[in-house]
Amino acid sequence: MTLSLNSRPNVQLYDLHPPLDDFYAAALAGLQATPKTMPPKFLYDQRGAELFDVICTLEEYYLTRTELLILRTYAPELATLMGDCALLEFGSGSSQKVQTLLDANPKLRTYVGLDISRHQLQKSCLDLASRYPQLEAIAICADYTQPLTLPDLPALRHRSKVGFFPGSSIGNLEPQEVVVFLRHTAMLVGPQGSLLIGVDLKKEPAILEAAYDDTQGVSAAFAFNLLTRINRELGADFQLDQFRYRASYNPIGRIEMDLVSLIDQVVHLGAHEIAFQQGEALRTENSYKYSVSDFQDLAAQAGFQPQQVWTDPDRLFSLHYLQGKS
Ligand code: AVI
Repeated sequence: MTLSLNSRPNVQLYDLHPPLDDFYAAALAGLQATPKTMPPKFLYDQRGAELFDVICTLEEYYLTRTELLILRTYAPELATLMGDCALLEFGSGSSQKVQTLLDANPKLRTYVGLDISRHQLQKSCLDLASRYPQLEAIAICADYTQPLTLPDLPALRHRSKVGFFPGSSIGNLEPQEVVVFLRHTAMLVGPQGSLLIGVDLKKEPAILEAAYDDTQGVSAAFAFNLLTRINRELGADFQLDQFRYRASYNPIGRIEMDLVSLIDQVVHLGAHEIAFQQGEALRTENSYKYSVSDFQDLAAQAGFQPQQVWTDPDRLFSLHYLQGKS
């Protein structure tokens, strides 16, 4: 572990050196699998992250504004529940959301950002530290989907820990991975700790399909960017105009995002030939939706005690407060 001090005294960076992804090996394995699939994390190169930011502002993509509405509405209640905790944010991109918690809770003086992207992490921690000079911001560069141990710091020693995982990012994990992630998180925050997590709710398929296939085509561009990235970084020869984007709701409770081949074709990746039949799909993402009780069951399996849940008046989105258990 290395510690480097930044220009601001209230920021510390700990690099736990998460292993680098082998994009080529993962892409090849996904393209050779049946059905063809790609880990969604590879959607987020610089262009992908920009497109995702645009998605979050779209009329059809109700998730971001609805979660913010819930956070703003219940911020005073959350402040009482959290008190003088250390707030641990998983993924450090949602500064508007964390600021809602910080603005409502002057007792909150310790923020820990956990992110695999060192650049994004430093940027968001420096930004928070300059906006909130009283805040001690601890940036930990790590893969939070793997078990991890926090550095032993005075700021963390006698404070309860509250995890914060907004955006329904949990929905991009398979349900069995959700339980594993929540188990790791329960261990990280300990029996006195909690987790505040945003989870998108099941709803009418038409609303969901519009959210993931907007009229401006940004969701489609986000998926197509993955093929552009594979071509650019791995030297593949995907012909983008020979695929179409599709987002469809599967009643098992998830939106499935696919790039569907328009013709029989062969794509090359290194020395490998990847055959696509007409109509064959490459799955770029699943986005799971949960009822409140479905998600509480998963949380309980992972060792959390569901304590409180808030939704918006239209019951589009849920925010769960889960208590650690000894
Ligand atoms: C990041 N994640 C929660 C988004 C979602 O809603 O599943 C990713 C996304 N993909 C297309 N639109 C949004």
